[in-house]
Amino acid sequence: MAAVLGKASAPVREWTGEITANRTIMGDSYLVTFTMPEGLAQHIEPGHFVNVLPSGAGSFDPLLRRPYSIYGIDAAANTMTLLIRPYGRGGQWIVDQQPGQSLNVLGILGNHYEVAPRSSHLLMVAGGVGAAPLKMLSEQAVAQGKSVVYLLGARREDQLLDASELPHAVEYIVATEDGSAGHKGFVTELAANYLTWADQIFTCGPTPMMAALRNVILQHRFGKGPQVQISVERTMACGVGACLGCVVETKKGMKASCVDGPVFDMESVVWG
Ligand SMILES: Cc1cc2nc3c(=O)[nH]c(=O)nc-3n(C[C@H](O)[C@H](O)[C@H](O)COP(=O)(O)OP(=O)(O)OC[C@H]3O[C@@H](n4cnc5c(N)ncnc54)[C@H](O)[C@@H]3O)c2cc1C
Ligand code: FES
Repeated sequence: MAAVLGKASAPVREWTGEITANRTIMGDSYLVTFTMPEGLAQHIEPGHFVNVLPSGAGSFDPLLRRPYSIYGIDAAANTMTLLIRPYGRGGQWIVDQQPGQSLNVLGILGNHYEVAPRSSHLLMVAGGVGAAPLKMLSEQAVAQGKSVVYLLGARREDQLLDASELPHAVEYIVATEDGSAGHKGFVTELAANYLTWADQIFTCGPTPMMAALRNVILQHRFGKGPQVQISVERTMACGVGACLGCVVETKKGMKASCVDGPVFDMESVVWG
């Protein structure tokens, strides 16, 4: 498997979207929906991301765009939805925008997850807002007739994705650190049950979670085991390969995760 997966063929453009909806989800996060240029939807694949300017026209504070995975699209309405947890000022500015207001967006960026045509059993392992790209992937996979097990971990019950957000056919299993819903503990502890079932594994979440998942996979798998694709969340300044602020060390050298990623084959990455 090459280090670079699902290279984006999508056009990169800057556009001003009009916010059409904004609602809370997962306790402290928001689903922000806005318009996108006509024709863009056909280029979007699960795992792609966009870079959103977190300030209004004429303001440069905060200066840098914030990267967000695409949570979902509505091709008929030409809208895109992002799942945003506002960690700081940039995220907070974006989620404070209300329907009718505008958002400056740069995208489509990065590569995307790749489901092999022969794979029929897909395991998805998400931590926190890492739920976003895997939600879109689960929709595409179910539409293609694949079986999907979707594992999500959160600190507590109110930070979980409501089951109604996922396709009905998805087997949705959760873990919470405080035991308020599902398995008490880490989501990675659930993954061992599905390693012989899965043809491919897709993951997104904090780096320690993905490292823990890798340990579980290495401990439990037999033979070659399923191929695993990870989406990394590095801090990004430019998002277009210019600043090298987002590099990931791979067995084929340093790669800019904004253009060569964010999706990588788990074993192509050098783990500390
Ligand atoms: C490819 C890609 C896809 C992403 N997709 C999503 C997504 O779908 N939804 C989403 O909510 N976020 C996503 N992120 C993370 C998101 O880009 C950052 O959380 C965001 O840039 C933070 O901006 P801010 O202004 O809210 O916080 P900042 O002002 O940048 O940071 C405030 C504080 O929060 C900390 N912080 C920032 N981000 C995180 C984080 N992710 N985890 C823990 N601490 C953090 C910072 O270290 C700092 O201390 C993605 C990142 C990448 C690279
Ligand atoms: S964010 Fe600048 S090179 Fe990736």
